[in-house]
Amino acid sequence: MTTNRSGPSDARLSRRRFLLLTGGAVGAATLARPRPTLAAVPSLALRQVGSQTAAIPLIAGPATVDLAGRRARTWAYNGTVPGPVVRVTAGETLRVKLTNHLEQATSVHWHGIALPNAMDGVPGVTQPGVEPDAEFDYEFVAPDPGTYFFHPHMGMQLDQGLYAPLIVDDPHDPGGYDAEWIIVLDDWTDGIGRRPERILARLQRGMGMGSGSTSEGGMDMGGMDHGDMAAGSLISDVLGGMAGDVAYPLYLLNGRPPKDPETFTASAGQRIRLRIINAGSDTAFRFAVAGHPLTVTHADGYSVVPVTGDAVLLGMGERVDALVTVDDGAHPVIARAEGKGKSARAVLRAGSGSITRWAAPELDRQLLTVADLSPDPAVALATKAPDRTHRLALGGNDMTYRWTINGATYDPAVLYPAALGERVRLVFENTSTMWHPMHLHGHTFAVVRDESPGVRKDTVIVTPGETITVDFDATNPGRWMLHCHNTYHLEAGMMTTVQVA
Ligand code: C2O
Ligand code: CU
Repeated sequence: MTTNRSGPSDARLSRRRFLLLTGGAVGAATLARPRPTLAAVPSLALRQVGSQTAAIPLIAGPATVDLAGRRARTWAYNGTVPGPVVRVTAGETLRVKLTNHLEQATSVHWHGIALPNAMDGVPGVTQPGVEPDAEFDYEFVAPDPGTYFFHPHMGMQLDQGLYAPLIVDDPHDPGGYDAEWIIVLDDWTDGIGRRPERILARLQRGMGMGSGSTSEGGMDMGGMDHGDMAAGSLISDVLGGMAGDVAYPLYLLNGRPPKDPETFTASAGQRIRLRIINAGSDTAFRFAVAGHPLTVTHADGYSVVPVTGDAVLLGMGERVDALVTVDDGAHPVIARAEGKGKSARAVLRAGSGSITRWAAPELDRQLLTVADLSPDPAVALATKAPDRTHRLALGGNDMTYRWTINGATYDPAVLYPAALGERVRLVFENTSTMWHPMHLHGHTFAVVRDESPGVRKDTVIVTPGETITVDFDATNPGRWMLHCHNTYHLEAGMMTTVQVA
């Protein structure tokens, strides 16, 4: 199958193109409908409208993506990278039928959604893996509006093309913007550099930087190391040291490499809601729009007190919604792979003009991080003393490539308990020399600041030497994964389970 490399955000796709992208397999009932509360939403969306309609078909299978002329064999959902945008209105039932056309078992995890445990998509924990040629029906109510995404919870599949946005619309969205664009960021090696499994194997053999990189445009012939960056060269101040383990050959914005950027078109003066998703495996992105301040309105789907800055940082698994008011002309949209010397990019165009310099000085001005965010009072957790505290020491290093929680790699028998209804405190203490974006399934915690519950998140960056405390109400029964969202760290053990019973 040849994949159309179009991103999810082109609001002007023709119906013909839409049918082409979805292979015509999608019933009319699941096509996007114009929504009264929004002036424009992307038309390339599979919207669930009411539970009586057919389930949205989602096929995980081999695909070929065109990366500015380089064809890369990979695995993708419905043949596109990112996969199709799935949309549902909060409180409504989402039904998705997953068909596995891969050569190994898979699953779909709905990252950030407070869904019933059996729908959480963790093979061996919440369901059996979906075997090749088998199907699985996911069906759940998406209770909370926001920007989410979905991906497998299986091996290195997330570092291939298997990821897509999940947008839960707010039936009471106050609006205040003219259009929205979905921006999915990713670090890419599959099909053009080393395969993710090989990178992991090299890292575990202590071969240092498991670079997916070969010479630009070259194919990985196996064992060729030119293009690797020297160990220790991927450095970021804001991440407190080493930025990552993998120097990727490419960084993608909506599936497109820098040489073939997507163009977002608007009229000067329009306000655009950006829904930015970091679907990468080993890369934090620093995002900015040249010449435009960003006003962050949501973090990990939940509203925050709006705060304006020049750039925003996203670890793997994190999402940010931000408003920009568009200026006349053509402007670079840049997602810098933090500490890795390369970027993903797109064009913001209002009126005429062309981009002469791919730069955004905003990237090095006021950078918004979790420390700058506080919750919208409407979604803040009530102040309450924790009923129970779990301390989680994050350990490991690049030599042994064993990444641990309290000294242990993943063991399904280890459960951190919580009783239903308790206020639970997790204290992440990073004793390693690398940062970790820590993610909890099934709940949205509050990052504790000055002893009170702050911004709501499901994924939070913990830098080396740092201690981050989060509180959550254990309202969702089941076994929930708690892990680092670095795909390599996760595979190398940095995962455990919280049991709410
Ligand atoms: Cu997106 Cu277990 O995570
Ligand atoms: Cu990690």
